[in-house]
Amino acid sequence: MLRLHLINFLSYRSAVLDLGDFVVLVGPNSSGKSNAVAAIKLLREIPFHGLPTAISRRGGFRQLRHRSGGKSFDPTLRLDFQFGQHDESFYELALRATGNRYTVYERAEIHHGDGSFWFTNRGGTYEWEELREVAGEKRRISSERFQEEFLNVQAGHSIVSITPTYGSYIVSELLQSMQTVEINPARVGELQEPSSVRDFEPDGSNTASVYDSLPGESRQELIDELSAIVPGIRRIAVSRFADKVTLKFYQGKPGANSHEFLAKQMSDGTLRAFSILLSMLRPSPPALVVIEEPEIAIHLGALRTLIDILRQRSERSQILITTHSADIVDTIDPQSLRVVWTAERSSHISRVADHTIKTVREGLITPGQLLRSDALDPAGI
Ligand SMILES: Nc1ncnc2c1ncn2[C@@H]1O[C@H](COP(=O)(O)OP(=O)(O)OP(=O)(O)O)[C@@H](O)[C@H]1O
Ligand SMILES: [Mg+2]
Repeated sequence: MLRLHLINFLSYRSAVLDLGDFVVLVGPNSSGKSNAVAAIKLLREIPFHGLPTAISRRGGFRQLRHRSGGKSFDPTLRLDFQFGQHDESFYELALRATGNRYTVYERAEIHHGDGSFWFTNRGGTYEWEELREVAGEKRRISSERFQEEFLNVQAGHSIVSITPTYGSYIVSELLQSMQTVEINPARVGELQEPSSVRDFEPDGSNTASVYDSLPGESRQELIDELSAIVPGIRRIAVSRFADKVTLKFYQGKPGANSHEFLAKQMSDGTLRAFSILLSMLRPSPPALVVIEEPEIAIHLGALRTLIDILRQRSERSQILITTHSADIVDTIDPQSLRVVWTAERSSHISRVADHTIKTVREGLITPGQLLRSDALDPAGI
């Protein structure tokens, strides 16, 4: 994933979030960090739940429009990405108000190992074109008045969630491979409904099922990592109670017997750390993992360990976190920080200013000290 464009989406008028292997969003309360994450969440939900559901879950289309100076503006989101050494690809979703309803516009251009793909959706009129190798021969396949084949599809739906072409299938897979993580320890602790593990629920409410589906070596990796954060964790299993499931933790000092604890008896910090680590360990690792404020409920020493583990994991999955923790920011290369701030009633995102990076590189001040004194200057202003 290369970058996310946010246009007239929630508090953003026009901003670009440059992604990387490990990117950290910082900024004051209410500056727009979670709104940028909300864009990723919305995009990810399209293939899982369909666009109309994803929008209504957020209180409807009007809630997504950027409001400023007594006016509302129609939102557009665009995700740029790249497969290997191929040219850059993108997917763009625009919602336009039409009376009390909205119309969906989509565009995508994909360059992939299997070929090149283009598609557009103009309010329910779909067109697509593929340049794909079929039986050893490059073939151009295109649609004219493609929507006739999909007459049951209404305006308001996204081509991504109906996946009728190979190009939209690639986008659908890509959006599903973004994982957002906002753990609610109470949901991890309670008895859970068994779920299909296609989707890790961002609040942690299907952690037992997701854990249950992991191969043995991934479970061991998770236990080893968790025990570096919460000493004494030896084993984790899944227990069934009638039609519900829950996690069971075996904890004890080295050389002593371990004790069994159900998830609801474990500490919030343990359940949060466990779930964050689990979210990245699905059978195929997510392409991008977004974690809101990983510092919550985690002890300072353990937090450093968690960040070290995330950094290692960033070789497999791109990681984006939001944080208010100067301790986290101190462990991050200043090039990886993105500053979110508000000006002229709109949110903005920038890298850190060059002069600030230079000061940090010279060892005169740490990024965490700059964050504490509200002096992390964004570039370009
Ligand atoms: N549709 C909208 N148009 C304009 N501004 C909006 C819209 N929706 C939300 N906002 C603004 O965005 C703010 C919330 O931003 P967000 O939740 O991203 O903050 P944050 O940086 O995550 O803060 P925190 O650090 O407290 O979590 C709201 O307080 C509101 O001012
Ligand atoms: Mg927030």
